[in-house]
Amino acid sequence: MKKAVYAGTFDPITMGHLDVIERVARIFDFLYIGIAAEVKKQVLFSAEERYELVKETTKHLKNVEAHLFSGLLVEFVKSMEAKIIIRGLRALSDFEYEFEIASANKNLYPEVDTLFLLTSLEYSFLSSSLVKEVAMLGGSVEKWVPPVVDKKLRDKYKSISHE
Ligand code: COA
Repeated sequence: MKKAVYAGTFDPITMGHLDVIERVARIFDFLYIGIAAEVKKQVLFSAEERYELVKETTKHLKNVEAHLFSGLLVEFVKSMEAKIIIRGLRALSDFEYEFEIASANKNLYPEVDTLFLLTSLEYSFLSSSLVKEVAMLGGSVEKWVPPVVDKKLRDKYKSISHE
């Protein structure tokens, strides 16, 4: 059985991530989505909220399973008995960072390989930060995120503005 792991922060999941997930799910027998619980960057959604949104928006994909993970990505990959890490590449500017983490992961766990998928052109500009900024300023992000994420963003910014 060919298994792969697609990991990230998913704060929140966007159509760009879903595009990668749906395409990978057609290539591999099984895809585990690893949602990093603790990350260096400041997050808007809690680990539990990020996990729930990934779970909800991928429930139509029968060979995809979302998991929260803590600690090293390679340890999560090992625990899922997988050897492939999937990353999406949006632009040339992603390459340097991706090269660094793919090399570090290979060094930490030599059996692992990272496969890169080009993000579809229509989402190549997208990032979770961009979605959050536009939503925070009251702009529409409905083309960039699934409806459940759109609603969650609105609720979140409403509750923050009432604090
Ligand atoms: N569509 C839209 N956005 C995309 C995208 C796509 N196809 N691909 C990446 N992005 C965006 C993300 O939304 C994110 O945007 P943001 O910075 O505005 O939040 C950015 O690109 C990169 O984020 P992501 O893909 O989630 O990766 P990350 O850098 O946040 O997280 C981990 C990477 C979690 C996999 C990495 O930090 C990790 O492995 N952590 C575990 C600890 C560990 O093992 N560390 C050692 C690694 S060497």
